[in-house]
Parts: sequence; structure tokens; C-alpha cells
Amino acid sequence: MPRAVVTGGAGFLGSHLCEELLRRGWAVVAVDNLLTGSLDNIQALRAHDGFEFVEHDVTEEVNVDGPIDAVLHFASPASPRDYLEYPIKTLKVGSLGTHNTLGLAKRVGARYLLASTSEIYGDPLVHPQREDYWGNVNPVGPRGVYDEAKRFAEAMAMAYHRAHGLDVKIVRIFNTYGERLRHHDGRVVSNFLVQALDDKPLTIYGDGSQTRSFCFVDDEVRGILGLLESDWVGPMNIGNPNEFTVLELAENVLELTGAGSEIVFEPLPVDDPKVRRPDISLAEKVLGWHPEVNLREGLRRTYDWYRRERERGRV
Ligand SMILES: NC(=O)c1ccc[n+]([C@@H]2O[C@H](COP(=O)([O-])OP(=O)(O)OC[C@H]3O[C@@H](n4cnc5c(N)ncnc54)[C@H](O)[C@@H]3O)[C@@H](O)[C@H]2O)c1
Repeated sequence: MPRAVVTGGAGFLGSHLCEELLRRGWAVVAVDNLLTGSLDNIQALRAHDGFEFVEHDVTEEVNVDGPIDAVLHFASPASPRDYLEYPIKTLKVGSLGTHNTLGLAKRVGARYLLASTSEIYGDPLVHPQREDYWGNVNPVGPRGVYDEAKRFAEAMAMAYHRAHGLDVKIVRIFNTYGERLRHHDGRVVSNFLVQALDDKPLTIYGDGSQTRSFCFVDDEVRGILGLLESDWVGPMNIGNPNEFTVLELAENVLELTGAGSEIVFEPLPVDDPKVRRPDISLAEKVLGWHPEVNLREGLRRTYDWYRRERERGRV
């Protein structure tokens, strides 16, 4: 049975990855310090024989006993609210955490998959973004802590490939949403759905004309594991290329939920990107991957989850 270490395994994406790896017959060790993750996310997995949870901060040395076939480094604050609250921890998990997990993969001869982000393209001057675009990032702005940590992490991972021959894959994840996206983490989909659930006004930052592309978590995880199992080395975009304005997203949420909320506009945060859409031709060519869940269906499944969480008193 192949065995994977997933850092950030108690987070939103990490927990879905652990679940899908187990379903595909892997044994999984989830490593997480619970900074922004939660044991609730992995509660159902803990009964599984092939699943282990280790509470650990990966900015400290990472050691896991036994054979390991793959290290997936997903630990990092990810929502703007979180990385602005934890700027130094974000820089440390992207730098020291990446170094430590690369060291683990090298010691045990495992393949390595780094969770990177569309944020490495910054406020892009090229649209849509292809993997060979180098980005437009403000290194000293408030968001620089996240963008530059991920850019450093990519550079470090490629250095381990070039210097040590490590099998390195880098997934550049574009906005992903779905069940277990925390209701209060400030990302636009969770904001709108929970505001609609409460019949509160939907808050748009800016005039709502900025565009985003939203990928449902099942599609994202399928793409990530396709990349893990492929021979590809280096970065690959995995995200949904269907682009919507934030205003269109708000209108979709209102229509789907039937909420009577109005839409209110607030000032745009510093360095908020105006457009964001992946060019996924590489993933289509190498993995035969493309998203299958449309926005309507994904929003409905996520909204149903928030409703169930509300009934359990967790939202
Ligand atoms: N969700 C998205 O749309 C998205 C987009 C781009 C990139 N990503 C990347 O995917 C990864 C997971 O993001 P997410 O949305 O699941 O966020 P999340 O906050 O739900 O999960 C991150 C997890 O990492 C853990 N963590 C943070 N610092 C740690 C440390 N030092 N040691 C051990 N664990 C630590 C947290 O406790 C949490 O469980 C991140 O690397 C993020 O940058 C996510």
C-alpha cells in the first residue's frame, strides 16, 4: 500500500486530499499544527486503519517513521484574512516548512508535491495566466507575505530537483471552494454563502467588476492527484477557467439561495488582483484533466453543507 504524508492535512484542501488518497488505497499521515485547520475536518477519517494524525509544526524538523512514497506540502495559512493575521508564520511555513518537508522527501526517496497558488502571478499583466508567466507581485505590500513565501517555496522545490534529482511537482491552485471551507475565513464564496444563509447584505469589495474563477474542491483534488501520479516535473495550473465577475457570483448566490439580501459595496483591499483565470492547457494535455462541476452545482453543494453545519451549531 503506498503511503503519503500530507502537511496541512486538517485544513480545507488537505482533509479532502487525505480522504481521496485513502479512498484510492493509500495510507496517509496527516501533519498539522491546527493553526487554521480543525480536527472536525478529519474526524471521519480517524476511524480509518490507514490514517494517522500527527500534531506538529512543520517549521520544526519533520520526521515520520516508516516508508513514504509521497510528501504533499499543503500547510500554510491560505485565506487573506489568515495570512494577514499570521504574516511571519506564513513566511516561515513557506520557507522553513518547505525546506523541512523537502528534506523529509529526500531522506526517504519520496516524490514531492508543493501546494502553490495563483497568487504567485500577483496582479497579472497577462491574462489568462500560463505557467511560463513570471507574475507581477508587490514583495513589500501586505499580501507579499503569502505570495513571496510561495514563490520562495517553488524556487526551493526546483532547487531540490536540480541539485538532488528529487521528483518535484508544483500545483498552482486557483480559488477553490466547497464543503469544509471555513465560514468565517473571509474568502468571497464563504462570505456570500454565509451572508445569504443569514439573510444579511452580501459585501462586495470594490465595484464587483474584478473577475475570479472558482474551482469546486472535488475537481481540484482530482487534478492534484492526477499531477501527483504523473511524470510531470515543475509547476502546473489546476483551476477552473470559467471566469465570473464578483458581482455575477453574488447574483448567482442570491438566485440559488433565494435570500432576500441586498448587495453592498466596500473599498477594495490593497493589491487585490483585478483579474484571475488559469490557462489549463498544460493540465489538459499532460493529465487529460479539466473541471467537471459547474458553479451552480458547486455553490449548491457548498451551501447545503453550510446549512447542515448551521443545524449542528457549527456555523
Ligand atoms: N483553498 C484555495 O483556494 C487555495 C488556493 C491556492 C493555494 N492554496 C494552498 O493550499 C494549501 C491549503 O489551503 P487551504 O485552503 O486548505 O487552507 P487551510 O487554512 O484550510 O489549511 C491549511 C492547513 O495548514 C495548517 N498549518 C499552517 N501552518 C502550519 C505549520 N507551520 N505546521 C503544520 N500545519 C500548519 C493549518 O492548521 C491548516 O490545517 C495552502 O498551502 C494554500 O496556500 C489553497
